[in-house]
Amino acid sequence: MSAAGGGSSPDIARAAAALRARIGGDPEVAIVLGSGLGQLATGVRDPVVVPFTDVPGFPPAGVVGHAGEYVFGTLGGRQVLLQSGRFHVYEGHPLDVVAAPVRVAAALGVRFLILTNAAGGVNPGLEPGDVVLVEDHLNLMFRSPLIGSVHGDEDRFPTMDEAYDAELRRIALAAAGTLDLPLHRGVYAALTGPSYETAAEVRMLGRLGADVVGMSTVPEVLTARAIGLRCLAFSMVTNKGTGLSDVPLTHVDVLEVGARAGRLVARLVEAVVAGLPDASQSTGAK
Ligand code: HPA
Repeated sequence: MSAAGGGSSPDIARAAAALRARIGGDPEVAIVLGSGLGQLATGVRDPVVVPFTDVPGFPPAGVVGHAGEYVFGTLGGRQVLLQSGRFHVYEGHPLDVVAAPVRVAAALGVRFLILTNAAGGVNPGLEPGDVVLVEDHLNLMFRSPLIGSVHGDEDRFPTMDEAYDAELRRIALAAAGTLDLPLHRGVYAALTGPSYETAAEVRMLGRLGADVVGMSTVPEVLTARAIGLRCLAFSMVTNKGTGLSDVPLTHVDVLEVGARAGRLVARLVEAVVAGLPDASQSTGAK
């Protein structure tokens, strides 16, 4: 895998072999933790920690609030691979680097991908600390990790009909009900960043149908669906979008709210994992 900004494509088989040798298990579920959500890792039993820098070709996670490590272990009775940190387009990584952890997870046998992210609230009804179950997305990065030659047996033209798996969403809503955690539903708009949006852009996003906005998740979901992984995503609203609040937006605030509300998301994700269908009955057809 290349350093930020260019270079050769990641060697997925090599990265997966190295990670498999370290974790010594077969994860069914991969969970990607967004900014400030790293504490979910503390709930994992018998954890094996592998820094990204120990995976051949992986660059270190370069953003404050992202640990840049895998934690393999048991959560909700299932073997999970937690990915604390991710590679972002705004760091200058090529899209095949951004997508590499999804391809590595699939190579390890993962069937379910649960993504979390920090996001700004575009829908004026959303407040910092709210959690949104992503039902659909707008790819306003206007690029895709699927452009170029097809990887392995990935689908050339994957449908985005159920980018966010309907059965997994039902499980998430049921888990939220049991935990008495209010769970909003909405559309996630992905922009490259790294600047936050202008007030005019936030108004535009609202008119386009977005409820939340962030700088991740969509490249991973595009890749996962091409492979056939079943996806679920939660956005943690860390701030109101620019223009919807008098308080100026900073990355430190994003991390603080993320850490506060992260405990709730952690409980939700654990309950979802416990309620996942048997991977052998998976219907994640491409
Ligand atoms: N915009 C984009 N990404 C974000 C935001 C935002 O307001 N908050 C957290 N990530």
